[in-house]
Amino acid sequence: MGENCISFLIGHPDPGALLTAELYASVQSVINTSQASIALQYGPEQGTQSLLEVLREKLRREQDLSIQIENLMVVAGSTHAVDMLTRLYARSGGVVLVEAPTYADAIHIFRDHQVELYAVPMDDEGLITSALEQQVAELYARGKSPCMLYTIPNFHNPTGSTLAEARRLEVIKLARRYGFLIVEDDVYRDLSFEATVPRSFYALANGKQVLSIGSFSKTLAPGLRLGWLLGPEDAIQRCIGCGTTQMGGGANPFTAHIVAEYCRQGYWEKHMAQVRSLYQSRRDAALAALERYMPADVRWTRPAGGFFTWLRLPEHVFAQDVKRLALQEGVEMASGEGFFLNPSDGAHHLRLAYSCAAYDDIDAGIRILAQVIDRARA
Ligand SMILES: Cc1ncc(COP(=O)(O)O)c(C=O)c1O
Repeated sequence: MGENCISFLIGHPDPGALLTAELYASVQSVINTSQASIALQYGPEQGTQSLLEVLREKLRREQDLSIQIENLMVVAGSTHAVDMLTRLYARSGGVVLVEAPTYADAIHIFRDHQVELYAVPMDDEGLITSALEQQVAELYARGKSPCMLYTIPNFHNPTGSTLAEARRLEVIKLARRYGFLIVEDDVYRDLSFEATVPRSFYALANGKQVLSIGSFSKTLAPGLRLGWLLGPEDAIQRCIGCGTTQMGGGANPFTAHIVAEYCRQGYWEKHMAQVRSLYQSRRDAALAALERYMPADVRWTRPAGGFFTWLRLPEHVFAQDVKRLALQEGVEMASGEGFFLNPSDGAHHLRLAYSCAAYDDIDAGIRILAQVIDRARA
C-alpha cells in the first residue's frame, strides 16, 4: 500500500479493529495460567478441544446447525483448508470448477496442485446455475468428471454478491446428480449488514457432499491463522488423518486457546456488532460516492456484507489504464484480471475494497476514480 495513498486495494480487516482490549485480555489470560504450557505444545489433530466446543456452539446459535464434534476441525485459516481439500480430493489432473471471477489466491492454490480448472460465470446474484449445468454436462461429454466446485456464496470476493437460497438448492441438485463436492468458502458470512444471511450449502444439503469453511481472519485477526472446516465425518477424518496434520498436530493451538477464551468470555458478540457497523458505514460511504460521482455507463454491485464492491467499466475503458492513472492521483485498487482463469475476462473490471479505507477518504477516493475513468476513455 503506497504511503499517503487512498487505498481500496486489499481486502484486509481494518488495522484499528485488531488488537482490542478484549483480545489482549484473552492473550494475557492464556499466558498467565497453566493453559500456556498446553497451548504451546503440539495439539490434538482435530484441533484444540475448547475451540471446537466454542465453534459447535457458535454454529448452533448463529446458523441453527446441530452438529457433532466429529463434523468439525480447526484449520489454519481458509487457505489451509482449501489447500488440504485440493490435495486430498482433487489431486494432480483432477477437475475443479470455480466461479468467474473468484478469489485470486484460491486460483494460485489450485494451480499449485496442477488441477484442471474450469470457470462458471456469475451474474449480479452470483453463480449462474444453468451455466454450471452446461459446463458439467460438457465436461462429462468429454469424459471428464469434476471432483469439486469451489464457491464463495456470501459477500463474494471480488464481486460482493450473495447467492440466493434457490440457486444454492439447484447447485446441490447438480452436485448430487454429477457427484462433485461443494467446497463453500464462507469467510465473510459473519460480516453481514442485514439481519439474515441465506442458509449455508452445508445446512441446505444436510451436511452431505459439502465442505464448509469458516475463518477468524476477517472478523478477529488474520494473524491468528485460525479457521474451521465443517463436513461429513468421513471427510473430516480424512483431513485429520492426512500427513501434514499427523505431523504437527492440529492447527495453531496457541491462538486457538486464545480465541476459545475470547469467545467464552462473551467478547465475540460485542466485537462483531462493532466491526459490522464499521464496515457497513464504509460500504454506505462507498455506495453513496459511487452514486454521486460515477459516469452513467459504469456499473457496480451493492454488497449486503463483507469488504468489496465490483465495478464494470464500459467496453472501451480498460481497468489497467484506470488503475495506472488512479495511482498517479494517489488512489489504488485491484483491476479485474487476477480474479479470472482467463485474465482478459477482467480487463474492464475493478475491485474496490472499502474495509481498510478511512471513512473520510472514501468519498475523495471515489471522486478521483470517477475523474480518472473519464480520462481513460480519451
Ligand atoms: C474468499 C476468501 N477466502 C479465503 C481468504 C483467506 O482466508 P484465511 O485468512 O482464513 O486463510 C480470503 C482473504 O482474502 C478470501 O477473500
